[in-house]
Amino acid sequence: MMETKKFEFSAEHKGKIEKIIQKYPAGRQASAVLPLLDLAQRQADGWLPAEAIEAVAKILNMPPMRVYEVASFYSMFNLKSVGKFHIQVCRTTPCWLRGSDELTNSCQKKLGISKGQTSKDGNFTLNEVECLGACANAPVVQINDDLYEDLTPESLMKVMDQLAVGQKPKIGSQIGRQGSAPLAVDDSKTALPDPLFNLKPGHQNS
Ligand code: FES
Repeated sequence: MMETKKFEFSAEHKGKIEKIIQKYPAGRQASAVLPLLDLAQRQADGWLPAEAIEAVAKILNMPPMRVYEVASFYSMFNLKSVGKFHIQVCRTTPCWLRGSDELTNSCQKKLGISKGQTSKDGNFTLNEVECLGACANAPVVQINDDLYEDLTPESLMKVMDQLAVGQKPKIGSQIGRQGSAPLAVDDSKTALPDPLFNLKPGHQNS
């Protein structure tokens, strides 16, 4: 059951909402449900109390249950309160093959919590999600709006330590990879076989 929390869109967000709704054809304003839920969540400290869902439903002239269905479908929306930093570990196949289980386990150990819980100091909430769309740099973790990629348990712990003391960790690849470019590799192990192999002296078929 959702927790309740008084909610009214701020004046700044009301201005944004008008502009968002104008992007959609008349009568199709329900299409704005995702951006409005995102604004509501940002205003409500990272989660959607029932009153925020009702506020979105009222603005878009939708039944609250329809808005709830959308909010409960996407993992980007939280139906209960989260910590200052929401850690979302990708557990889909490429990240799993590259050690996402170890990332989750080390977070649980460090914070003394299980998945879905928030640390006692209110700093971190831990969850697992499906593909974050940066699979080439697996394993990947999203913390609030930022992706941290090419992680190891050690580099993720370092990111968390920096966040906890108000520093800004480097976002993106933690091993210096440029974008999703291939890493430097030892060509001797990956080179294709020489197509002339069989014609070289000593290798010809008699
Ligand atoms: S599988 Fe983890 S980002 Fe795609």
